Amino acid sequence: MTHRVGIVGGDGIGPEVIAEGLKVIAAAGVELDTVDYDLGGSRYLQDGVVLTDEIVDEWRTLDAIYLGAVGTPDVPPGVIERGLLLKMRFDLDLYINYRPFSCGPDSANTSPMSSGEEAEFDFVVIRENTEGAYAGEGGFLRKNTPHEIATQGSVNTRLGVERCVRYAFELASRRRKHLTLVHKTNVLTFSGDLWERTFNEVADAYPGVETAYNHVDAACIYFVDDPRRYDVIVTDNLFGDILTDLGGAVSGGIGFAASANLHPGRVSMFEPVHGSAPDIAGTGKANPTAAILSGALMLDHLGEDQAAERIRKACEDPDSLSGSTTEIGDVIAARL
Ligand code: IPM
Ligand code: MN
Repeated sequence: MTHRVGIVGGDGIGPEVIAEGLKVIAAAGVELDTVDYDLGGSRYLQDGVVLTDEIVDEWRTLDAIYLGAVGTPDVPPGVIERGLLLKMRFDLDLYINYRPFSCGPDSANTSPMSSGEEAEFDFVVIRENTEGAYAGEGGFLRKNTPHEIATQGSVNTRLGVERCVRYAFELASRRRKHLTLVHKTNVLTFSGDLWERTFNEVADAYPGVETAYNHVDAACIYFVDDPRRYDVIVTDNLFGDILTDLGGAVSGGIGFAASANLHPGRVSMFEPVHGSAPDIAGTGKANPTAAILSGALMLDHLGEDQAAERIRKACEDPDSLSGSTTEIGDVIAARL
C-alpha cells in the first residue's frame, strides 16, 4: 500500500533537507504518493496566501505531511508562524508534539558533556501542541497610548491536558517506565494545579510507571548536567518549545533534532525542529539529518516500522556528518 503524503518544503533550507529525507525514504524501499504544496514566506510574498481552509480540508484526506521549514526574514513575525504552522497544528488537532533526543557511543551527534557513560542518554519530550500560551488568547487595550496594555493568556483545558498526559504515560509504559512532569507549579498555581492533578490522576492507571516532577527552570539544569535521569517528559506548549531547543543543543545541535506533530490515528505532520536558516540557504551547509530522522518518525506513523528503524541506524555513524547537505543524504541513503 502506498502512503499519500503532502510535502511542504517551505522556505530557506526547508526544500533542501526535505529532498534528502525523500531520497532516504526511497532508499529504504518505502513508496510514497506525494502531493506538493507551495507554502511559506516566499509564497505569501508572491500572492498573499498563507494557508487556506480548502488546503487544510485536503490534508485531512492524506496519511501524513512532511514539512521542511517555513519563514522568511521579510515577512512580519507571526504571519507564517500563526497562519501556517500553528493553524496546521490546531486545525488538524495535532495535540502531541513528540521530540526525541539521544546520544550514544555510536551517534553521529555528540553531547557537549564529557565522554563516556555520562554522555549517553535517550529521552523523549512530549509537548502539548494545541493550547497554553500558543492558543492566542489575549489582546491589546488602549494600544499605542502611554497606558497600553497587552495580555497573553495561557489556555489549559482538562481535555487537552489529559489526552497529552495519557499519551505520555502510554509511551513511558512502552519504554523505560519513567515519566517526568515539567511545569512551574510554584508560580503558575492555576494551570500548574490542573496539570499536576491531571498527571496524578492518570498516574493511578499506570502503576508500573515511576513518576517525577521538575520545575522548568530546574529541568534546564538537568538537561545540561544530568540528562540521563529522563526517559519521557511531559510538559505544556511553551515550556516544551523552549526545552526542546535546549534538548537539541545538548544532543549535538539542532541539525539532529526531529519532531512529530501527532493526532494518533489521523493525518499527522513531521518536521525538523530547526527553522528555515535563510543565512545558509543554497550553500549546501544544512545538515539534513533532522529532516531525515523526522522522515523516520513519519514512517513509524505510517506503519513502516522496520524501514524507520533502518533509517535511524543509518544515521548513527559519525562519518555521516561530514560533507554537504546532499553528500550527507547520499551517505545515509547508500547505507540502506
Ligand atoms: C517549533 C517552532 C515553532 C513553535 C514556531 C516556528 C512557531 O519554534 O516548532 O518549536 O514555537 O512551536
Ligand atoms: Mn521552537
